[in-house]
Amino acid sequence: MRAEPLRFVTFEGSEGAGKSTQIHRLEARLLSLGEPVLTVREPGGTPLGERLRRLLKESSPELAISPESELFLFLASRAQVVRQAIQPALAKNSWVLSDRFSDSTLAYQGGGRGFSPDLLRSLNRITCAGLSPSLTFVLDLPLSEAGHRLTRRKAGSGQGDRIEEEPPEFFERVRDTYRDLARLEPERVRLIDASRPEDEVAAGIWEIVSRVFGL
Ligand code: TMP
Repeated sequence: MRAEPLRFVTFEGSEGAGKSTQIHRLEARLLSLGEPVLTVREPGGTPLGERLRRLLKESSPELAISPESELFLFLASRAQVVRQAIQPALAKNSWVLSDRFSDSTLAYQGGGRGFSPDLLRSLNRITCAGLSPSLTFVLDLPLSEAGHRLTRRKAGSGQGDRIEEEPPEFFERVRDTYRDLARLEPERVRLIDASRPEDEVAAGIWEIVSRVFGL
């Protein structure tokens, strides 16, 4: 008999690709089937993680954050959410959906900032206590399209975001790293064309989830 895959699904992609919308649509669909679901986001998902999120997102000239500090702050948030929220939920047989997880570190701190993938993989292993998602959706969008969506979002919130202020080349490297991950681990990492209408993207995601988990 084949072991059931862990019901741990992560969503990844560049800013503006529609991760949050899609994660909530999947959550709603699972809940409608009576399935227990925990949805978390990274950085965040715990009181410590949410405080770290504010620090990591804040764009302020007084708050310098070196690439090394940034890396360890993201990992600190992850170490906490794994132990405080994700592991206990999986142990109770709940689904766990995470808006970003370890692949974000490979894409942003690896592709974006240039840390070695081997180093990041080792750090991720310690941080995640060996836990890895069964399925990861990378919502892929050309930079120009993502940029438009972000401009609209920013105009609505009126707030700056430290990482979103990086130059376009940074986000090209992030996107390329995600695409490489999908080539390297095609079973786990599914590249989703996020330029399609929202309903179509949600249907594609559901089709994969129901097949992989036998729903
Ligand atoms: P978001 O949740 O609104 O996408 O914001 C999270 C930001 O943090 C986003 O710019 C990606 C970035 N990030 C990293 O650089 N490394 C990480 O490990 C994680 C989880 C997020």
